[in-house]
Amino acid sequence: MAKYLSHPTLADQFFRDQGSARGSGELSTILNRVTLAGRMIANAVLRAGLEGKLGRTGDVNVQGEEVKKLDAISNEIFEEVFDGIPVVAGLASEEREEVHVYARDATRGKYVLLHDPLDGSGNLDVNGSVGTIFSIYRRLDPEQPATLADFLRRGSEQVAAGYLLYGPATLFVYTCGGPVHGFTLDRSVGAFFLTHPQIQIPSGGGTYAVNEANERLWDERTRAVVRTFREGRTVCGRRGARYVGALVADFHRTLMQGGIYMYPGEVERPAGKLRLLYEAAPLALIARQAGGHASDGSRAILDVAATSLHQRTPLFLGARADVAEAERLLWAERPD
Ligand code: F6P
Ligand code: MN
Repeated sequence: MAKYLSHPTLADQFFRDQGSARGSGELSTILNRVTLAGRMIANAVLRAGLEGKLGRTGDVNVQGEEVKKLDAISNEIFEEVFDGIPVVAGLASEEREEVHVYARDATRGKYVLLHDPLDGSGNLDVNGSVGTIFSIYRRLDPEQPATLADFLRRGSEQVAAGYLLYGPATLFVYTCGGPVHGFTLDRSVGAFFLTHPQIQIPSGGGTYAVNEANERLWDERTRAVVRTFREGRTVCGRRGARYVGALVADFHRTLMQGGIYMYPGEVERPAGKLRLLYEAAPLALIARQAGGHASDGSRAILDVAATSLHQRTPLFLGARADVAEAERLLWAERPD
């Protein structure tokens, strides 16, 4: 038994071992870089209040949302961290209208990466949890320059996806299409250690998470779904309500404890708020590989082919039985 390492498996070693089993070290390189970006963002978040980096930049992003200084910083961190990595041909981000192709690698780089660099940034001003979400695809033709088509994909084509959660501890959770594994950052040595191997979402219990203040914006069926969970009339019975308002934090709780996260479509905004490519699809892959499911209300999120970079989707995400129940209530025949 090691005397000084309570969790002896280092993330980079783990990625390498898993990568050599797959016969490629390239994904391990990318995952290591994501964890580097994550450590840098965790540090920026930790220090922001002391360095005057909380608050807004004054800009509005492509989504029409106010950009926080830390949104912009986190996006720059990702762009810099991947600048020197020939295996990644380009990035797409919530914070950038267009894809960012590294020009010097125009015809090189097998992969593209999409990310939400600082998810839930509305929580920053209250010292609440925030996160990063990432999604990796193999390019359609690595001999050609990367184009938008390399990014507009179906979630089921992802080769890896995951997130970082900047909470009391910083966590890194990912899958390469096999099991879902979680790591915790040991700040004192600047390394991630495997703390949550082979995560499985509990099939019963847990919580339901939704912004219930939006009830007036939903149609009657959506109201009925949320009411059913609130009143505990579901297959899985009664459970508590929790809503952090940061997708990564709400999803992580759901992954660990079970239940469902919902961001439904609204009458005036049928696609809802969340973005398919760098919010819903990566978390859908994690959910599926952990035994759960993600739906837009009628289709599996992983089956939806993207047609635009920032397209939105309704999202029902979590334990398989809960998501199935939401779908059933949305589509059930009515006696009328
Ligand atoms: O990125 C969008 C986001 O910040 C998510 O992290 C979060 O779950 C959601 O918006 C919260 O939206 P609302 O404030 O409308 O509940
Ligand atoms: Mn987000």
